[in-house]
Amino acid sequence: MAMRRPAIGVFDSGFGGLTVLKELIGHSLDADYLYFGDTARLPYGSKSTETVSRFALGACQYLEDRGAQLLVIACNTATALALGQISAAAHVPVVGVIEPGAECAAAASRSRKVVVLATEATVSSHAYQKALAARGIEAREKACPLLVPLVEEGWVDHPITEQVAQIYVDQAFGERNEADVLLLGCTHYPLLKPLLRRIAPRDVTLVDSAESAATAVRKKLKLDPLPRLSEAERRSIPRLNFFATDSVEKFRRLGAMFLCHRIDHVEHVDLKE
Ligand code: DGL
Repeated sequence: MAMRRPAIGVFDSGFGGLTVLKELIGHSLDADYLYFGDTARLPYGSKSTETVSRFALGACQYLEDRGAQLLVIACNTATALALGQISAAAHVPVVGVIEPGAECAAAASRSRKVVVLATEATVSSHAYQKALAARGIEAREKACPLLVPLVEEGWVDHPITEQVAQIYVDQAFGERNEADVLLLGCTHYPLLKPLLRRIAPRDVTLVDSAESAATAVRKKLKLDPLPRLSEAERRSIPRLNFFATDSVEKFRRLGAMFLCHRIDHVEHVDLKE
């Protein structure tokens, strides 16, 4: 009997989590993907813990109902505010982006000082600071609320974005710049990597939570694999399924920029609360 390919659910507030999906696909895991973007209710980065938790729980339940056997919480804000609740409610393993990001940052830092850029809500939760402190690292967190809309505007290499990012980076590093790692704690920031590389202090290593999370998922699946695949399935191309709570056209258009690949079919989902 032909076996079904295991399905990995990827959840985000909208388009940004496609940077995590891109990295997961890059790792060539033998899996299909179910990507849920809660585009009708983004941004999460300016919302309260109660609201983000409620939204995230509904979306993750939906992914499980559609057959996800592992949930990747690609959204930094949802991970920071609701990972505990999501994990408690889920019937499948859950991986967030913060622990993997903190782990990679800790491994990359010699000065034991790291600067974290993230949304307002992620910074207020101090989830990164706590995860880094647990690894003996001092963190300076900086909320960068203007970067998400600038990236969604497609201004990833625009003088305005550069000016804004420069202000944030200067404020985050301050006068006495001892941090040697810049941790990108938001789904949208990987698109700004070339720009951030240019403006960050020299010798600072950029660590991207999307890449770190994909590596963590690969390691987890190596230790604890999902059901095995038939030969035929292993040879076939992974299937990508997209679900969005707002316009499917907009998801296709904007999503392609984050995924660096065209998106053909998107299913609209109306989550009843
Ligand atoms: N996905 C969010 C994050 O990584 C950024 C976008 C939003 O605020 O919804 O924190």
